[in-house]
Order: sequence, then C-alpha cells, then structure tokens
Amino acid sequence: MASNNTLQAVILAGGQGTRLRPLTLSRAKPVVPILNRPILAYQFALLKAHGVSDVVLACSYRVADVRAALGDAEHLGVRLRYVVENEPLGTGGGVRNASDLVSGTLFVLNGDILTDADLTAMRRLHESRGSRTTIFLQSVPDPRQYGLVETDASGRLRRFREKPTADDEITTSTVNAGIYLIDAELLGRIPRDRPSSIEREFFPALIADEIPCFGWCPTAYWRDIGTPSAYRAAQIDLLHERVDIPLSPLGKPLDGSWIGGGPVAPEARIIAPSVVGAGAALGPRCRVGPGAVVGDGSTIGPDARIEGAILWERVEVGAGAVLQDCVIGADVKIGAHARVGPEVVLESGAVVPEHATLTR
Ligand code: GTP
Repeated sequence: MASNNTLQAVILAGGQGTRLRPLTLSRAKPVVPILNRPILAYQFALLKAHGVSDVVLACSYRVADVRAALGDAEHLGVRLRYVVENEPLGTGGGVRNASDLVSGTLFVLNGDILTDADLTAMRRLHESRGSRTTIFLQSVPDPRQYGLVETDASGRLRRFREKPTADDEITTSTVNAGIYLIDAELLGRIPRDRPSSIEREFFPALIADEIPCFGWCPTAYWRDIGTPSAYRAAQIDLLHERVDIPLSPLGKPLDGSWIGGGPVAPEARIIAPSVVGAGAALGPRCRVGPGAVVGDGSTIGPDARIEGAILWERVEVGAGAVLQDCVIGADVKIGAHARVGPEVVLESGAVVPEHATLTR
C-alpha cells in the first residue's frame, strides 16, 4: 500500500500486441523502442511530471523482456513493481491483479499510448466533480477502431460502444484514450481470477449502477502506437517536437538532430530531424534523414540512404541500400543496394539479400 499522499499508477502491459506484429514477436510492446528508448519511459516521465512515482506494471506476455529493459526503473525516475498474470486476464483482470498494491485514487494507463496530456488537470476535474472514475477522451476523425464513449452535456459518462462497425452506431467522435483515474475501492467489482475487460464490463457496469463517472477531453498530443504506421508516425512527431514530455536528451544535439557518439565518416550527412543511437556508425557519403531513427550499435554502409525509417539496434545496412519510411527490427541485415519501401516492417533478425526490393 502507498501512504495517503503518494500517487500511484497501474500500467497495463500484458497484451500480445498482435497489430504490431512482427515487431512484437520478439519484443513486448511496452518496451518497443521509441527514439531508441522503451515506450514506457515516456509514460514514466509523464507520470513523474504529474507527481506519480509509484508504478505497478500489470504484465503477462514476454515478461522477461520487460524486466530486462526496465528493471526497477529507478533510472527512469519511478519506483516500478511488477505483477504477473499466469494466464492473460485482459484489461479488467490485469488491473484487478494489481489491486493489492494500490489504494486511493490511481491512474490506470494502457501501455501503448503516447501522450502529453495534463494529468494534473485530469485529477482536478476528477476531484471537483466528485467523480469515482474519470476517462481521458479524445475526439478522432474515424472512431471505428476505438471504443466510443458518450457523455452528457455535463461530461458524465452515459454509454460505451467498443469498436462499432455499423454507421448508425457511430454516435460520437469521442473515444476512450486509454488513461483512467479510478477510485481503487471500485476495483473489488472486477472478478479476481477470470479474464475480463475494463472497457466492455467494468465501465458499463459503473454507468448501469449510476456511480458518478466523467469524461475528460483536453487538447493534447495523443496517439495509440499499436499499429506499425502509428508506431512510426509517433516517432516522426517526437522528432518534430510535437509532444511535450520532459525527458533527458536523446544524444548530443547536432543541427536539429541528436547523435550518439559513434564514428561518423566525414562525408556522411545527417539531415534533421534525426536520431543516431549510441555507438552507431555512419559510413562514407551515406545520407541519414530527415525523419530517421538509427538504433544503438547499427552500421550504415557507404552511400546508403535512410529516410523516414526506424531502425532498431544493431541493424547492418549494406553499401548503397535505400530505406524509405519503413520499420526495421533488431539485428536485421540489409544487403548492399537493397531497397526497402514505405510501410514495410521487417522482423528482428531478418536478412535482406543484396539488390532485393521490398515493397508493401
Ligand atoms: P493488439 O493485439 O494489437 O490489439 O494489442 P494488445 O494486445 O496490446 O491489446 P490492446 O491494444 O487492446 O490493449 C490495450 C492495453 O491493455 C495494452 O497496454 C495492453 O498491453 C494491455 N493488455 C491487453 N490485454 C492484457 C492482459 O491480458 N493483461 C494485461 N495485464 N494487460 C493487457
């Protein structure tokens, strides 16, 4: 249990991340790199900026990855504890499984969203309205892939519709943005040892029982990074400084980019904004950027071009290869003069032969 004035958070981090495959076949989604650091590092920084430093991670898939990447997260500014499900318990059961470690009003976050939302303002609203569960909402142009949340004129929650398909079911553009403030006493309503959904079961039951629950729909940066295109787009947004999260520098600043101190051949060009990871080596006449993320320990061969592409760690790019708007997993080898085109996603360890062309 936390002392009365310590704010706590539970982060849901147990999903299999099927939409982000094949990247998530070899790494759990909460620790896929965003500009060379785990996505959860951004959530920890946001939580810390809003006074939350006691975090419980609800895990079930590839837990060893998550522990190896984050440890106790002291270096990331929070105290991190893990609760592990033997079988995946879903978003409801995952929070319930963490309930013995939390008390008071707690934040619950999906582990796959990038946002700079003002969580202090969310808490103020929660308290001033006497809300027992408050949901961060966002208005989106196409709400079909999300959970729709209807509120009344006062902001009180009225109805949920998960991922509607029929046009007449799309009654609002506001969707569940995956951060909640919940009165921990309510968690006892979630069954302990069977899978359940916080969106489909817990929230609708609160509404049915007329427990005061409110939506909070601020202007903020927000993106669900659960698909490869959103995962890449989030990093482009960060490179363009469209997200306001206080984090340590990504490397040494250089003309609008950040570089990690590896060898850079004199004629190599880095076009801003880009990030070159620790120890990454850039060969003669290669061109990196704009919008490139080169993972730690990667090697970019002579005359290669990397534009709008996200490379994980230790990727080897051969001479003259061209990588455009794609995502490349760790330890991938790209043969000389190969071309990898927009939207292509290569799983960790893949090998692309010389002169091959990969498109989607
Ligand atoms: P997709 O398979 O691509 O939909 O991704 P996902 O498995 O992460 O599912 P989804 O995006 O709906 O999950 C929302 C959040 O809940 C993510 O942060 C997941 O990690 C988390 N989550 C989903 N299922 C579970 C579960 O069974 N246990 C726990 N602890 N977390 C879960």
